[in-house]
Amino acid sequence: MNRVNLLIMGPPGAGKGTQADLISERYAVPHISTGNMFRDILKDSSNELARELRKYVEKGELVPDDVVLKMVRARLLNNDSKKGFILDGFPRTMSQAKSLDLLLKEIGREIGLAVYLEASLDVILERLTGRRVCMHCEANYHIKYSPPEEESVCDRCGGELYQRDDDKEATIKRRLEIYGNQIEGILLFYKNMGCLFKVSGDLSAEEVFQAVKNKLEQSNIKTV
Ligand code: AP5
Ligand code: MG
Repeated sequence: MNRVNLLIMGPPGAGKGTQADLISERYAVPHISTGNMFRDILKDSSNELARELRKYVEKGELVPDDVVLKMVRARLLNNDSKKGFILDGFPRTMSQAKSLDLLLKEIGREIGLAVYLEASLDVILERLTGRRVCMHCEANYHIKYSPPEEESVCDRCGGELYQRDDDKEATIKRRLEIYGNQIEGILLFYKNMGCLFKVSGDLSAEEVFQAVKNKLEQSNIKTV
């Protein structure tokens, strides 16, 4: 049986981070989000890498493949990833998808499920403009769909909630444009591998999670 080696793909705001958190908690496997990794580095503005990354992340542009790959490689070689992983926001280019494939072959692993969350434009815009994120633990909230108990305070860790810099309208448009240019080839890659699973990201977070959970449990994937 395979471990839970899972990808979550989809447009900005489709709910990748939200689902990855739920799956990570349910199956006790690490949630590896390249976006969260970059935002963590950006917190320290004295860091040279942070200055370099800011040029891309705040404008909604893709960080160069070599930088992303180095980080993902190091993360997947970590001990905690041996029991499985959930990759959120990676791969985002064909080159990243092929490099991931080579890396997994090198360490004797394979993708069990590549979840693709489809979402409509109206839903994406409403979710991104209403999103609030914990400065400390990166937990996701939504002012309408999943508000914190106390305004601007994270339920999980008490950290302050903020609105991401790339959730401005012009940057959202750019992120969607880049996403649209890359996604078809990547979907075909995982379809041909036989592990692509499409779910409507427009459903409630609980409904999407149920669909993924059912699929994992029906597939020959070790989940406990
Ligand atoms: P990243 O952080 O990955 O951003 P993204 O792909 O644009 O996706 P988001 O995080 O905005 O959305 P999400 O799908 O996670 O939705 P969420 O669960 O938060 O990347 C950011 C930047 O980093 C990139 O632009 C790029 O610069 C760089 N980068 C990252 N990876 C890279 C890579 N591989 N290569 C190169 N560059 C890279 O949900 C959104 C909101 O909706 C939340 O408020 C949530 O509470 C709510 N919500 C979620 N699901 C539901 C639901 N079902 N019903 C109601 N509300 C919901
Ligand atoms: Mg996210």
